[in-house]
Amino acid sequence: MVIFREFLLWGISWLCLYIGFSFIFRKNKKLPPGPRGWPVLGCLPLLGSMPHVNLTNLSKKYGPIVYLKLGTSEMVVANTPAAAKAFLKTLDINFCSRPRIAGATHLAYNMQDVAWVPYGKRWKMMRKLCNLHMLGGKALDEWQHVRVAEMGHMLPSILTHSQKGQTVNLPDLLNVYTANIFGQIILSKRIFESEGEEANQFKDMVVELLTTGGYFNVGDYIPSIAWMDLQGIERRMKKLAVRFDDMLNILITEHQATTKKRAAPDFLDIMMSNRNNSDADGMKLSDENIKALILDLLTAGTDTSSSVIEWTLAELLQNPNLLKHAQKEMDCVIGVGRRLKESDIPKLPYLIAICKEGFRKHPSTPLSLPRISTQACEVGGYYVPKGVRLTVNIWGIGRDDQVWENPLEFNPDRFLGSKIDPRGNDFNLIPFGAGRRICVGVRMGITMVEYTLGSLIHAFDWEIPLGSVPAPIAPDELIKYDMASAKALMLIMLSISDNVRPHVRKVEKPKEAWDKLETIYEAKNQMKILHLQSKLHTLSMRSDEKVEEFLHHVDELRSKLLALGEMVDDKILIAITLRALPSQFRVFIMTLNVSKQTVTFKELVNFLQ
Ligand code: HEM
Repeated sequence: MVIFREFLLWGISWLCLYIGFSFIFRKNKKLPPGPRGWPVLGCLPLLGSMPHVNLTNLSKKYGPIVYLKLGTSEMVVANTPAAAKAFLKTLDINFCSRPRIAGATHLAYNMQDVAWVPYGKRWKMMRKLCNLHMLGGKALDEWQHVRVAEMGHMLPSILTHSQKGQTVNLPDLLNVYTANIFGQIILSKRIFESEGEEANQFKDMVVELLTTGGYFNVGDYIPSIAWMDLQGIERRMKKLAVRFDDMLNILITEHQATTKKRAAPDFLDIMMSNRNNSDADGMKLSDENIKALILDLLTAGTDTSSSVIEWTLAELLQNPNLLKHAQKEMDCVIGVGRRLKESDIPKLPYLIAICKEGFRKHPSTPLSLPRISTQACEVGGYYVPKGVRLTVNIWGIGRDDQVWENPLEFNPDRFLGSKIDPRGNDFNLIPFGAGRRICVGVRMGITMVEYTLGSLIHAFDWEIPLGSVPAPIAPDELIKYDMASAKALMLIMLSISDNVRPHVRKVEKPKEAWDKLETIYEAKNQMKILHLQSKLHTLSMRSDEKVEEFLHHVDELRSKLLALGEMVDDKILIAITLRALPSQFRVFIMTLNVSKQTVTFKELVNFLQ
């Protein structure tokens, strides 16, 4: 008994000495600056409902690296490109794992997915599989046909909406489109045949996952009270995990029943074979790894790309000249007789610049996924203890006025002729994070945004519905995980005009088309009908000056293209010129176009003269 007491005293003394020394040691080290915060909660209340915005404001006061005590946990925030580089490049290996949080426990099968699994052999095995068979350069090319086929479903669906005079619920369409792409790559299955109830359920589940996973859950910062689940977040997560697990079980069972029918293996087939065979490091995938990976790839892939596409299109709607510029570029390079192909993209610098600007201003993950320090280290002259969480303020870096001129302006020109690239090497633009744990879907994400946005603006004229007040892009400030509200706003904003472009345009009789136009406008705005009618009337007087002016534009464009060695068909030239011309020509061409699939140069001249 006496021996035990002495042993206990000895142990306690050592513990006190250890705590005392660590305290003194840390006291002598300079932590990064930051606000003091409150007892118990620390700085948690300062994060508010828009942590990326509040953290950006804090960095203006405290500098590029801010230290925050959040409950009993500690966090450092990197707010500038240099700070991000110091953590994600110089000290990458020290910050390669992620902290344990409720979301990763409940919604990622206890951190068994590629996004949350601790850095090590299992993570490497999963990353390698994703890169080799789904998301890396070669795999991306191999799955291109799926993206093309899904675009072939989405564009006509938009056209149908337009023909019925309906506004387009773009977020829902994109949800169906992206989920079906990933569904086919992973499970050889179009998850949704069309937009609607079923698609909405999936979207709701994804949004719920991102919302609950993205909340600042108090229990993650004060583990001793986590069991109380004061905000009810963990309850929601557990319920959602059951729903996802049910869905995954059904999908996997269906998939196994059709293995023999598949001509080529899909990603789940590859994963199943890695469940049975070990890799070079002796690692095998567990059932949890497989389900967690499917969930990761289905969810991470769907909402991220589509949110960038929606925001960027919304920006273009507020800056119609930029939209026109992009359309003009595509008309020149692709023409109007066919859809955009992925191989066209390198020839479309303006489209690429628009997408980069979208990634800069509207990164779908404003605060990067958290990392944690495995060892104490020094960054920018500050001491960062072991076990401190790191968050990179991607949103703040994209709007830093020390880095970007007029950062709030949506200006793709800033990227023209610039080599800045979002793939994790230029720390001024890191929408996908950087370092070893950079987004595994970076190539796919960029391709999806460029190809999808490009196709949408090449195929249709988009406009804000008549009669609705153009909404400012205020939800900008919304936290990513609250994207649902931002999307609701998009629904009001996005509609396509009736002026659908030739390669998806349906042949209609002029009278019917005009009647339909009237019905649409009548419902929206009586004034607009009168306005259109008077414009048409003016045009029908066919002033010779207008004809000359128009033909002059066509000729000018032809010579410019010839100088570039491009021979372009007359009807394409006309369509391009019409796009570039003031709106009265648009209205006029609608009356002409609707009766034909395309307008010949001769017909146009006859009509005008
Ligand atoms: C516009 C599209 C996308 C954006 C902006 C984006 C952004 C991000 C960011 C910021 C991270 C955290 C990186 C870090 O810790 O430094 C991340 C991680 C990740 N992303 Fe993406 N992502 C996109 C598309 C995708 C796609 C298409 C997929 C897969 C289908 C995907 C799967 C993942 C996964 C699995 C991780 C975790 C990687 C790891 O921990 O090793 N993402 N993404």
